[in-house]
Amino acid sequence: MLKPDAVLRRLIGKTVSRFEERGLKVTAAKIMIINKNLAEKHYSEHSQKPFFRDLVDYITSGPVLAMVIEGEECITLIRKMVGATNPKDAELGTIRGDYAIDTGRNIIHASDSTESATREINLFFNDSEIYKFTIPDEEFIYEEP
Ligand code: RTP
Ligand code: MG
Repeated sequence: MLKPDAVLRRLIGKTVSRFEERGLKVTAAKIMIINKNLAEKHYSEHSQKPFFRDLVDYITSGPVLAMVIEGEECITLIRKMVGATNPKDAELGTIRGDYAIDTGRNIIHASDSTESATREINLFFNDSEIYKFTIPDEEFIYEEP
């Protein structure tokens, strides 16, 4: 999910391109304004953390781009491409390392496990909004089809 700062800073194209160029597939995407209730569900694992209120306020402060991105080992790949939670610790070449400075403005969220991805996708998308497709160049990206 691109957080409001990414959308408002017009970083949609640059960030989404990285995933596409890597060989991953965007199979669903929509701009949304998330309400507090949905944000609290999305970040429920952090409900007892001191930064929870700020986090909910941040993610509901403007438009987000919710996405489903698919590909082999995509959770691990995407988390690596996103970089460390605190952008000051994020390597150059990662999205946070290249485009962000503060933890509370780290521009992108990425699911951290298959279980959380399934849970989060169900919060933001119906099955009919996710488009399954194959692309011809998958044979050049993956060893095995
Ligand atoms: P995300 O869930 O957004 O992909 O980020 P993450 O896995 O790298 O980090 P996580 O620990 O899940 O934290 C969720 C978001 O909460 C904000 N945060 N603030 N002030 C703080 O100490 C602090 N720690 C985390 C960040 O916006 C982080 O992305
Ligand atoms: Mg997280």
